[in-house]
Amino acid sequence: MPTAPEALVVEAAGARAWLRPDAFDTECFGIPMAKVEAAAGARSGAVGLFAACARVAGEQGWVHLAARVPSEQTDLVRALEEAGFYWVDATVIFGRRLVDTTGPGEVPIGLALAEDLPVLQALGRGAFRQSRYFVDPYLDPAGKDRLTDQWVANALNGRADRVFVAEPKKPVGFAACRLDRRGRLATIDLIAVSSDSRGRGIGRSLVEAVCRHYEPIAERLEVGTQLANTQAVRLYEAAGCRLLRSYVTLHWVAPELRAGR
Ligand SMILES: CC(C)(COP(=O)(O)OP(=O)(O)OC[C@H]1O[C@@H](n2cnc3c(N)ncnc32)[C@H](O)[C@@H]1OP(=O)(O)O)[C@@H](O)C(=O)NCCC(=O)NCCS
Repeated sequence: MPTAPEALVVEAAGARAWLRPDAFDTECFGIPMAKVEAAAGARSGAVGLFAACARVAGEQGWVHLAARVPSEQTDLVRALEEAGFYWVDATVIFGRRLVDTTGPGEVPIGLALAEDLPVLQALGRGAFRQSRYFVDPYLDPAGKDRLTDQWVANALNGRADRVFVAEPKKPVGFAACRLDRRGRLATIDLIAVSSDSRGRGIGRSLVEAVCRHYEPIAERLEVGTQLANTQAVRLYEAAGCRLLRSYVTLHWVAPELRAGR
């Protein structure tokens, strides 16, 4: 296991980055995983910096790294690729002001109960197939399911401010929402509709219920998805959201993981 429990500073080629161990990912996948964060201004020496991050990760025993950069910083994306990172995701963040929310639709929406956990985990397992974890060929499929299960469990155990469910008697969809500390920003952290109930307005009803609930409490709603997730993008557009910003995520794996050892 890695020897450094805390973030490590990496300095190379006149630039700086941090390697931060990721306890949640590490537990779900059972391998030491960390995140790379480049300091602002790390642009010119970026290839050397990210190569140094990979080297330090190897020395510390981290076998998987994730780096997320604003998508307009194409020089950083290129530098990560040159340092051996591979592209896994383009994340798009949508948002809207919480005003003029429409009234309740026909789909009944309620709040999740603790006993809904297995149903919501099953919904989640079938849903988040475009996330950076799922598209990464070097991550164990069983770990991907553990990650989804744990994420849904955490949502019900307090990570989310509210978990809304569609058809509360027999949930067919859910939306887990967080509220920032100052209460001004509501975020949809997870949203999924069962595959045989999609395209019938359930996702739309969930987002509208979220907006109605948070309109008196928060100023804005934000939600992120993958650029490749056309259904989710169109759902958020249909709910009045507009594109705010975007990121690119790249992963790096140690040679032994790449070789399947
Ligand atoms: C994204 C998701 C929640 C949408 O739920 P849904 O119940 O199918 O969505 P709705 O039927 O309410 O449709 C809402 C909008 O989405 C769009 N949409 C729905 N199905 C679509 C499809 N098959 N193709 C393209 N757009 C689609 C439509 O624009 C629709 O708006 P409109 O009715 O004004 O045309 C659902 O597809 C899902 O669970 N996907 C897997 C999990 C996921 O990707 N979650 C988001 C991760 S960030």
